[in-house]
Amino acid sequence: MLQIQENVSLKPYNTFGIDTKARHFVEINHEQDLVELFADKQWHTVERLVMGGGSNMLLVNDFDGLVIRLNIHGITHYAQGDTIYVEAGAGEVWNDLVNFCVDNGFAGMENLTLIPGSVGASPIQNIGAYGVELKDVFESCWAFEIATGQFKTFLKDDCQFGYRESVFKSALKGQYIIVSVTFRLSVQSQLNLSYGAIEQELANRGIIQPTIKDVSQVVAAIRVSKLPDPSTIGNSGSFFKNPVIPQVQFEAIYKQYPNIAHYLAGQGYVKLAAGWLIEQCGWKGKTIGHTGTWKNQALVLVNHGGASGQEVYNLSSQIIDSVYTKFGVMLEREVNIIQ
Ligand code: EPU
Repeated sequence: MLQIQENVSLKPYNTFGIDTKARHFVEINHEQDLVELFADKQWHTVERLVMGGGSNMLLVNDFDGLVIRLNIHGITHYAQGDTIYVEAGAGEVWNDLVNFCVDNGFAGMENLTLIPGSVGASPIQNIGAYGVELKDVFESCWAFEIATGQFKTFLKDDCQFGYRESVFKSALKGQYIIVSVTFRLSVQSQLNLSYGAIEQELANRGIIQPTIKDVSQVVAAIRVSKLPDPSTIGNSGSFFKNPVIPQVQFEAIYKQYPNIAHYLAGQGYVKLAAGWLIEQCGWKGKTIGHTGTWKNQALVLVNHGGASGQEVYNLSSQIIDSVYTKFGVMLEREVNIIQ
């Protein structure tokens, strides 16, 4: 029997550590719980918020609807030649899955070590780090359609993956709940060491022929050195996306700021490092009230303790304004803002 609780504090469920309340709150332990929940029509019309690890959201106000916390567990796998298919429940902690794969010698997601959050959330924003994105290892996902009560498989092409984007954030937003994800990995590793910091750190350790375990450990070390640990300092990773701008606009900025951090984004576009833009505006490591930006990575906003969601949101607006004033580039929030 499902237990729907009232007026539940969401503080333990979001990595920003923001203390807001949910009017209604339910934990989903099995996919059949979703069928049972939505058999009651009242939940079709209230506002809903699906939470996995709560690591990519900023809760600005109390949530006057139903929070659905996914707690579906289980990891299974099978081999087909060198290919390994790994299926994981939406409620699995992402990094536990990475460790499971790395420990078993299943290659492909080692660069995604230590990304906070849950498996179910990973396709929604096509998580990525150090030259690899979820879409590179995604095979399919199994999702519940709220309106019909049916389950459906989404293959990679159905998901319309882009940079921190998918169909679940756009055309199908709020319509499906991801229940499990299947990944396509391999026993043959094809390491992606394109990201300079990885090569550098491997060299520092004297590792010449790295294994996936070495890469995973190096990625973990780089992340720990740059990013705050949400268990001690509330945060949601990168707060903004790295903006992609037309080449012409880039050239004008480049003339003025020749050391601007940037990457080619194909087809006449350039991607800028938002962290660099924010740092140039003087925000890096600044504390404002209970919030601020992280001392080693200006793209990450933090809760120094007791910050309200509104306070963090206001800081993000100030940052957007100042980056726009200085560079004429409009930053877009990557974190989901729950008003
Ligand atoms: N930079 C600065 N100042 C800063 C931060 C960065 O000058 O305060 C410069 C760095 O020197 C570097 C460039 O900006 O030249 C890029 O920085 P970094 O390598 O830290 O990566 P990022 O582009 O800021 C992205 C992802 C991260 C991911 C890293 C590594 C986005 C929005 N963020 O950050 O993902 O871990 O690359 O691949 O794409 C996340 O999405 O939550 C996240 C942490």
